[in-house]
Amino acid sequence: MENLISISSSTCVNCGRCEAICPSVIFGQGEKIPTLRHINNCIVCGHCVAICPTNSVVHNSFPAEKVHAIDPLQLPEPEKLLTLIRARRSNRAFTDQQVSLENLKLIVEAGYRAPTATNAQQVHFTVVTSADKLKEISQFTIDTLLASIKLLKNPLLKPILKKMMPGVFRYIPIFERMDAEMKRGNDMVLRGAKAAIFIHTPASMNFGKEDSNLAYQNCSLMAESLGVAQFYTGFVCAASARTKHRKLAQILGTEDVVYAGMALGMPKYQFAKYIDKKDVVVHYI
Ligand SMILES: Cc1cc2nc3c(=O)[nH]c(=O)nc-3n(C[C@H](O)[C@H](O)[C@H](O)COP(=O)(O)O)c2cc1C
Repeated sequence: MENLISISSSTCVNCGRCEAICPSVIFGQGEKIPTLRHINNCIVCGHCVAICPTNSVVHNSFPAEKVHAIDPLQLPEPEKLLTLIRARRSNRAFTDQQVSLENLKLIVEAGYRAPTATNAQQVHFTVVTSADKLKEISQFTIDTLLASIKLLKNPLLKPILKKMMPGVFRYIPIFERMDAEMKRGNDMVLRGAKAAIFIHTPASMNFGKEDSNLAYQNCSLMAESLGVAQFYTGFVCAASARTKHRKLAQILGTEDVVYAGMALGMPKYQFAKYIDKKDVVVHYI
């Protein structure tokens, strides 16, 4: 859609906020109202509309119904936000209860609200609740990870690979155990999750991985706030990357590249305590 931006001269107070806030330097200083230039560089972030104290910036992407007032009293106090961040844990013990669609929708909204490079907003979500699909994803993960360690076990290559990538050998018993447990009906990949949300972007996005993982973190905080248990599906994402992302995308029915994922369910147990992390390493310069 072509960007159409104008400024209402009858209400603009020429405060300079739109000029100061616009990341694309579209607004310039004018005598009575700001000047406009290079409108096609607009990344449609809506900052100009959101910052204007007199609703004088008119942007065709942001009609009045898409602009909402923020009530400062509704924002969490810093201490409350930090408590939520401290309370958020990966919780892998789920009940048999489904996660409600209402909660899944709120979790997706939180993810979609995360920032994206150049405000691309090309982060897409696939919500899986079908038990068969979840099983297929776990089986794909185990099959792919097992295939990837086959080479490591080749007696001729082993001594060379051990020198080149010593770290990966620790995964051999882990993947073999995941396979053995799966055969016994114990899924160590998705751990009996009742839902999974996979986060993906078109392959053409330069920051698809970053955008997707920022979305994940918003999703995880929302889940925590809703009392929904979740964890990051790192093994699934690692398996996906090993098939150039094609196989998982195929299972999910998307052409995108899947960069992040979360397994969800209702918690069997709640963490009543948070514990300290290792001492933070931080330099203030
Ligand atoms: C990139 C990444 C991959 C992860 N992969 C998995 C996974 O495949 N399975 C799992 O159970 N947890 C996974 N986790 C969760 C971590 O194990 C967990 O975040 C870590 O142990 C710290 O625990 P906390 O999230 O409760 O603070 C992953 C986390 C990250 C950030």
